[in-house]
Amino acid sequence: MNEPVALIFENKEKLVKGFTEYFINLLNEKTGSFNVALSGGSTPKIWFEYMAKNHKDDIDWKRIHFYWGDERCVPPENKDSNYGMTKSFLLDHIKIPDENIHRIMGELDPQEAAMNYSKEISDNLKSSEIPIFDLVILGMGDDGHTASIFPHQIELWNSDELCVVATHPISGQNRVSITGKVINNARSVAFLVTGESKTERVKEIIDEEPNAAYYPASLVKPIEGTLHWFLDASAANLIRDDQ
Ligand code: 6PG
Repeated sequence: MNEPVALIFENKEKLVKGFTEYFINLLNEKTGSFNVALSGGSTPKIWFEYMAKNHKDDIDWKRIHFYWGDERCVPPENKDSNYGMTKSFLLDHIKIPDENIHRIMGELDPQEAAMNYSKEISDNLKSSEIPIFDLVILGMGDDGHTASIFPHQIELWNSDELCVVATHPISGQNRVSITGKVINNARSVAFLVTGESKTERVKEIIDEEPNAAYYPASLVKPIEGTLHWFLDASAANLIRDDQ
């Protein structure tokens, strides 16, 4: 397993620029389709806006296939939808073929949505028994959750399934999430984590403190792939920079 790399940026704007450079390098290192699992959350939203504003014409979007690492079990037009947020801030502004968008169908019964999405990623990413994403983009909650695997259901990380139905610990909202076996099978995994509310979790996880075992984000350990943490100064306040 490759050692995780922590990249610290002065602010969110500089982080988004740095992540864009990383994304374009990964895209250029590969030929053919580039399969990315996106995340919801505030930091990815800033990146979507940046890409729509600055790179809508200089990226071959036809090569890129967008999937999601997790989705709230709501219709796509619901304000909570990760797909809906991506559509508003990125997809509506770029020329990407509809067939390149592989959303989790949050409007379905949660179990049906999870089964449907397991088939979607198996059918399209059939390079091995476990689907291989070129890049999985993750956020991390204040509680150390990632994708939609939360601490109170950390056992879902090790599910034999490719996708599971999870529930938000406070709202009880149903979520569909890819599991650890898919995330850790990716060629590259990148956390986008910002804000002082993440400072403690980031330190506990990156410094592999005993408490880290309680947080699903600490279980992101790509088997053969790379792991980069894109952090702003607030989130990284207690750790050192690997740049
Ligand atoms: C979601 C995301 C979730 C998110 C974290 C961090 O569906 O909400 O997939 O895992 O990445 O909650 O969110 P922020 O970046 O907004 O703190």
